Amino acid sequence: MIREVLRMGDERLLRVARPVERFDAPELQVLLADMHDTMAHLDGAGLAAPQIGVDLRVVIFGCESNPRYPQAEPVPYTVLINPELTPLGEDEEDGWEGCLSVPGMRGLVPRFSRLRYVGLDERGGRIDRVVDGFHARVVQHECDHLDGILYPMRMRDMSLFGFTDVLNIPGVVDE
Ligand code: NI
Repeated sequence: MIREVLRMGDERLLRVARPVERFDAPELQVLLADMHDTMAHLDGAGLAAPQIGVDLRVVIFGCESNPRYPQAEPVPYTVLINPELTPLGEDEEDGWEGCLSVPGMRGLVPRFSRLRYVGLDERGGRIDRVVDGFHARVVQHECDHLDGILYPMRMRDMSLFGFTDVLNIPGVVDE
């Protein structure tokens, strides 16, 4: 079921979400199905449970070719529960980000270039990956939602925050 995505300003986006403790409960599978449907409906590259008002440490992400991120390399569809991120090295990259909770806007955000992430999939199986580029960026963006952090809070130069159609970033279309 497609759910309403909370927008910036809603206090529920600022909570530190709780870990998932049970993988045998049907509620988790319903949540994951709703998150999938909602992300697909909005052409998102990722979605975190707090964005639909659910206070749990669950994110999904992935894109084959996404009209909102036309130059991004493909990222496999991933369900990631109770994630932990570890940056590998101190290198950072700036990149343009949008967020379904900040519709119509983009900002230039620094993120770690390379990181390892671990967590659990929808059946409680372990995920352990080393990633870089757009994949690393998406994971950092989505996992920030679990700690109540929206991408504008990571920006260092607010002159590079604006409406997508006004910024006119090459290759990026408005959502
Ligand atoms: Ni977001």
